[in-house]
Amino acid sequence: MNLISNDKLQPFDFVLFGGTGDLSVRKLIPALYFRHCENQLPDDGRIIAVARSDYDTEAFKQWLNEEVRQHISDEDFNESDWLEFLQRVLYFKVDVTNVESYQSLVDALAGRESHVRVFYLSVAPSLFTHITKGVQAAGLITPTSRVALEKPLGRDRQSAEDINDKLSAAFSEDQIYRIDHYLGKETVQNLLALRFGNALFEPLWRSERINDVQITIAESLGVEGRGGFYDQTGALRDMVQNHLLQLLVILAMEPPVSIDPDAVRDEKIKVLRALKPLTGIDAIENSVRGQYKAGAYVDGPVQGYFDEKDIPADSTTETFVALRAEIASWRWEGVPFFLRTGKRMESKTTEIVINFKKVPHSIFETADGFSTPNQLIIRLQPEESIRMRIYVKAWGDDIQLQPVFLNLDFNDVFQKRKMIAYERLLLDVIRGNPTLFMRRDEVAAAWAWIDPIREAWEQYQYSPKSYTAGTWGPAAANALISKEGLHWNED
Ligand code: NDP
Ligand code: BG6
Repeated sequence: MNLISNDKLQPFDFVLFGGTGDLSVRKLIPALYFRHCENQLPDDGRIIAVARSDYDTEAFKQWLNEEVRQHISDEDFNESDWLEFLQRVLYFKVDVTNVESYQSLVDALAGRESHVRVFYLSVAPSLFTHITKGVQAAGLITPTSRVALEKPLGRDRQSAEDINDKLSAAFSEDQIYRIDHYLGKETVQNLLALRFGNALFEPLWRSERINDVQITIAESLGVEGRGGFYDQTGALRDMVQNHLLQLLVILAMEPPVSIDPDAVRDEKIKVLRALKPLTGIDAIENSVRGQYKAGAYVDGPVQGYFDEKDIPADSTTETFVALRAEIASWRWEGVPFFLRTGKRMESKTTEIVINFKKVPHSIFETADGFSTPNQLIIRLQPEESIRMRIYVKAWGDDIQLQPVFLNLDFNDVFQKRKMIAYERLLLDVIRGNPTLFMRRDEVAAAWAWIDPIREAWEQYQYSPKSYTAGTWGPAAANALISKEGLHWNED
């Protein structure tokens, strides 16, 4: 098993349900195009887009041509590669809720049973079960078939289990690929490399040496035309249950015995199960909900959440969450993990900050009084970098220490186009490598930790605090961390 494999794939049919949707045109089709350009797709690899819109294949390609071009930069676009890529694309008009409507797909797939067959569900979760039943009734599931599902999987543990039960009536667990696109990001995999490819960090990676951990996923965008979906979902379900918790578990897991899919996932789930439950008043004291109001960025004003399309004027959905979590384990006992995510925050920044403990006794003077200890900052977005903050003697006569950064900027080192996270994940689905996908028990364990927080919010009628768009969230998020004499890293 290879995490970063360059092998060419088996012939495949990639059936993309929701081929006309936002995610398909912004991420999935561009990801497959880039892998085509890298010569990683076999000649006999087809992309079969499916949706209700009234296109035939030619009309769909014309539409796709215009749409996708908005999401691939001129620098990364090559006309002849694109035209070659389009030869792989077919379109079928199917209403997935109508079993009779699958016939065109049956005809298109006939005689290709030995090919890898991927059913990629880039549709609303309410359609997952229709599609599972539809492809099963149409006899389309072969032994080499796989189904890939977009997040969020359900709204809580029970609904996720219901979806999983229905899926497992048609597919075996090893045919099911639950996507969390953060696991496809280069730096997330680099976190595994950093921790388990270097002996240096392991002795430091524990409560004796680490004071606190902060994980921030801040977005400057608002709900971007997905108001209907977002208002029913909120930041806790949209970002914390999946992306934030995945970053947390990769950071906190014990070394797996190998890089095999189940060895990695077995360790990840132990962390999810070791998260101390946040229930009742404890959940209220250790969480902050926020909702953005109108504000401004350098390029101009932006509207508040209520003014976005499809958002009810009395919505109490959170667009920001901050949490203080703890992991009950020998390694992490007593170390607070501060998690936060939000829309319309000051900048698009995703980073993990590990704050080490201060020196036990200082023999030096420092300009900042050692107020900020050694830090390891792993930045995923906007640029990918790893920085280590250490103290050195400032140049000059006095022995005064000052903090400086050791910097590893991935752009400088690798000088390659930044991959879309989906490039690796889509190929892994076709290849049959589930390491970077969530197992059923992982999804259930993540919901099991999230559900009581949401229930406490309902029980205590804990409404979101407002924050101005373009800032780092509500003041209460600062209060959450400053109670312990700490502050969010916002350099
Ligand atoms: P969209 O609403 O943009 O797309 C939904 C797609 O489903 C469209 O192609 C639509 O096509 C198709 N569809 C709807 N009803 C039917 C039907 N009855 N039969 C066949 N096709 C149907 O959604 P997104 O692309 O934004 O999201 C897709 C999935 O990905 C969701 O689960 C979402 O939560 C998830 N996701 C999205 C992200 C994003 O950034 N957009 C990020 C992460 C996850 P048509 O109308 O032509 O039928
Ligand atoms: C998606 C969420 O899963 O992740 C979106 O549904 C969010 O609301 C997106 O904007 C963020 O992804 P990224 O890769 O841009 O950080």
